[in-house]
Amino acid sequence: MIKRIGVLTSGGDAPGMNAAIRSVVRYGLHHKLEVIGILRGYAGLIDEEMKPLDHRSVAGIINRGGTILGSARCDEFVTEEGQRHAVEVLKRNKVDALVVIGGDGTYRGAIELWERWHIPCVGVPGTIDNDLNGTDITIGADTAINTALEAIDKIQDSATSMDRIFVVEVMGRECGYIAIQVALAAGAEEVLVPELGYDLEEMLRDIEEGRRRGKFSWIIVVAEGAAKGEEIAKKITELTGSETKADILGHIQRGGNPTAWDRILATRLGAAAVDLILKNEFGKVVVSKDGMINAVDLRLAVGKKRIEADSYYQLIRDLI
Ligand code: F6P
Repeated sequence: MIKRIGVLTSGGDAPGMNAAIRSVVRYGLHHKLEVIGILRGYAGLIDEEMKPLDHRSVAGIINRGGTILGSARCDEFVTEEGQRHAVEVLKRNKVDALVVIGGDGTYRGAIELWERWHIPCVGVPGTIDNDLNGTDITIGADTAINTALEAIDKIQDSATSMDRIFVVEVMGRECGYIAIQVALAAGAEEVLVPELGYDLEEMLRDIEEGRRRGKFSWIIVVAEGAAKGEEIAKKITELTGSETKADILGHIQRGGNPTAWDRILATRLGAAAVDLILKNEFGKVVVSKDGMINAVDLRLAVGKKRIEADSYYQLIRDLI
């Protein structure tokens, strides 16, 4: 019988994590569960940093970026010793089940806890990268795309005013989701994503062809996992003779108030995670698939996600 659940956020923070925490807490309380917040992800779990959460603890956070619980990347949790310690902490504090909000590293931790140590765990997909299998979208991706879009729109003003080429590097280590979406939304001329690689020669031919048509400003969106924006800009400068600027958007993409979409997604997924626990379904992650909230195995969720980059890429090129 599950009486007390723990909730933690781990890995890279994502806008909407707070909305998910709020939902887990209030929906859990509604179903007569006690809820314990674990601070700083698995690192805080090992260090026994936790506090009970009530309705008021999560008031006024649905609109806030980051995570009120704090987050961390924790090497110690990868070790057997670290895990044993975490399990002792959970048992000592009578935490019967755990909701983990985060990305693939967070899920890998949950797989260990569930399969090796038999701690009931449920995952909630929270990462701006949208690189998790089984779900169409993860909490934070929509906000990150809108943040990057706002920045690129501003860069575009300078690109057109000064007839310049800009390379804009966005986040996404292994997944080009942010890059491809934002490139399409910004009307960018080129996009480089890890899924497809890139052809610099072809890009230069496009730029030359554009010039012949009187087109001199150019926005090239680069996912960090595909190439370094600075290097691409340097090569283009060398090969075209046009000074090319590189802008790295970095962590601004992870911050800020979550969009309505992310708040709604997070609220639905948080409640669904509690529902899984109430049904004694563990080792799973809640997902949003074709507009429906569902659940898949944690092991499936950490498998590499293949985004449909090809058709988007072709469309972006067809619109130059
Ligand atoms: O996983 C989310 C993410 O923002 C990636 O896009 C990025 O590569 C990474 O985290 C950056 O991590 P950190 O903030 O630890 O440098």
